[in-house]
Amino acid sequence: MTDLNTRQKNTLAAISAADTADAVEALRVEALGKQGWISQLLKTLGKMTPEERQEQAPAIQQARAAVADAIADRKQAIDDVELDRKLATETLDLSLPAPATPKGTVHPVSQVMDELAEIFADLGFAVKTGPEVEDDWHNFTALNMDENHPARAMHDTFYFPDRDADDRAMLLRTHTSPVQIRTMMNEGAPLRIIAPGRVYRSDSDATHTPMFHQVEGLVIDKDIHLGHLKWTLETFLKAFFERDDIVLRLRPSYFPFTEPSVEVDVGFAIVKGRRVLGGSGDAPGHAWMELLGSGMVNRRVIEFAGLDPDEWQGFAFGVGVDRLAMLKYGMDDLRAFFDGDIRWLQHYGFSPYDQPTLSAGVGASS
Ligand code: PHE
Repeated sequence: MTDLNTRQKNTLAAISAADTADAVEALRVEALGKQGWISQLLKTLGKMTPEERQEQAPAIQQARAAVADAIADRKQAIDDVELDRKLATETLDLSLPAPATPKGTVHPVSQVMDELAEIFADLGFAVKTGPEVEDDWHNFTALNMDENHPARAMHDTFYFPDRDADDRAMLLRTHTSPVQIRTMMNEGAPLRIIAPGRVYRSDSDATHTPMFHQVEGLVIDKDIHLGHLKWTLETFLKAFFERDDIVLRLRPSYFPFTEPSVEVDVGFAIVKGRRVLGGSGDAPGHAWMELLGSGMVNRRVIEFAGLDPDEWQGFAFGVGVDRLAMLKYGMDDLRAFFDGDIRWLQHYGFSPYDQPTLSAGVGASS
């Protein structure tokens, strides 16, 4: 007992002498941490006879409370001193004028992602995200691309040397489609989501960078069909490009995770050397441009994600965000997006006050 008293007294003295938050924290760990001496004493209570425990427990509990209180008081006192010091030394001159021109700009990729979120929110879609460091089960297997699927090789995947705790190969996600799987598994059905984010492929030239941006769309519900997909894409693209004459062409295609799969082309004309979307690609002076991949979610994918494909079906699409930005705002080299050149940002960036809203037009003036 006297031993306990002495240790308590020494600890309390050390606490009141401590003059930094770190020193107090070290004392806390020494006494109350997992291996701390008071914690160790508390553990001995379990092995005592009821009589011993009745005699010793109050003293140990009292020591614990006294030390905990002293630590809390000391921390507070140190924080107070620090706050007083800051209040005395840091001042803000509120009479200074604001800078004449805002210095920073919103990157076109951020701007376009905000525009997408605004347009799809109006259609009842929530925004979801997933990890950029993925495992091959979510990125491939659950999307109906097993180990030997040839489509895996086409993704130019960046792999990590180590596997995860479940012995899955780790990689940088090659598309936003794994967010389909994660969202279905976490939230079940029905679902209406978009998932914007960074994706990675080992590929680089004027139109490809090793990191780029996609937005995934996923709708899971009952009785969903291709007509819903076409209407949704048309409505989205008309709102995004702020033109009513957007014309789509749906072409049969193949993705392992959709069946049937459709590639969506959009009609455009060349105006003053720039591609301007609008009109049928078959009209004079017009052509078709491939814009995005989509399709009805493959039954196997719905099954992998733990849902019953006889009850739920849906559609999914994936589109390049950088590509959308280039088409809407007229940049011609993708690499410049990621150079961080202040002149490019000043030219193509957006004012932080230009929040995209449907009523004011989602396309803020650059
Ligand atoms: N994940 C595909 C890609 O990156 C795009 C896609 C998404 C296609 C959803 C169909 C459905 O190319």
